[in-house]
Amino acid sequence: MKTVETIAQLQAEIRAARAQGKRIGFVPTMGNLHEGHMILVDQASEECDFVVASIFINPLQFNDIDDLGRYPRTLAADQEHLRDRDCDLLFFPSVDEMYPDGQDAQTTVSVPVVSEGLCGNSRPGHFDGVATVVSKLFHMVQPDAAFFGEKDFQQLTVIQKMVRDLNLPFDVVGVPTCREENGLAMSSRNNYLTSEERENAGHIYQVLNDIAEQIRDGKKDFTELCLLGKQTLETHGFQPDYIEVRSAKELKPATEKDSELVILIAAILGKARLIDNLRVNLN
Ligand code: PAF
Repeated sequence: MKTVETIAQLQAEIRAARAQGKRIGFVPTMGNLHEGHMILVDQASEECDFVVASIFINPLQFNDIDDLGRYPRTLAADQEHLRDRDCDLLFFPSVDEMYPDGQDAQTTVSVPVVSEGLCGNSRPGHFDGVATVVSKLFHMVQPDAAFFGEKDFQQLTVIQKMVRDLNLPFDVVGVPTCREENGLAMSSRNNYLTSEERENAGHIYQVLNDIAEQIRDGKKDFTELCLLGKQTLETHGFQPDYIEVRSAKELKPATEKDSELVILIAAILGKARLIDNLRVNLN
């Protein structure tokens, strides 16, 4: 696996792969890779012939400077993980390479409606930062397919809508969430948890499953179900940010008529803000 740091090198490598008729799969990341990322790489290499991963801690999507500062930077270990799987090329650009005119002068991409509410409320500007960097990366790589984790369900929905709205000619593939034994969704932010908190963090998945079961049993008062879920998390030491039931396709607040639903949770435990979700299909 080659690591390149400039857009010119990235595009030269991709041109060479494409000239050999290879289908390009792309996995954008911010590094600190874990099994959840590796599954994206595996899926990309199943569906494509040449897998490009990127590691770029995108300052534009952090609304909290301390959060950006403490985000784990683990390039050597990440390269080793990617080498072990079938990644062909790693793009590891600097901030200057990505934003040569400075972040404030960068043209931005904003995806309305689906960016609003949920994490859009607690992290103002976050999804504009994500949409902007992902659309830049898409233009640089011009993949045949791009792979994102379903754990970041709102992010996935934002990117899928952006690709549809801007008529970008490739597939965005959502890959199911990878979980620890206790159900905790794998995330780089789990590194902020103590081992005790990590064990306790499994309650998020339990609450998601409890709510899902009640919805499958015919309960339709989503507000009430979410309130009870919040109380359960509070008793286990979490500070819930939100628990909501939304329509899975458009991410609108769910109504009794919706049959494809997603339950979304964000909650703070110790130093970590954890997010997770579970889909419920009533068809
Ligand atoms: O999910 C992430 O790691 C990031 O938000 C992404 C999609 C790589 C954009 O910076």
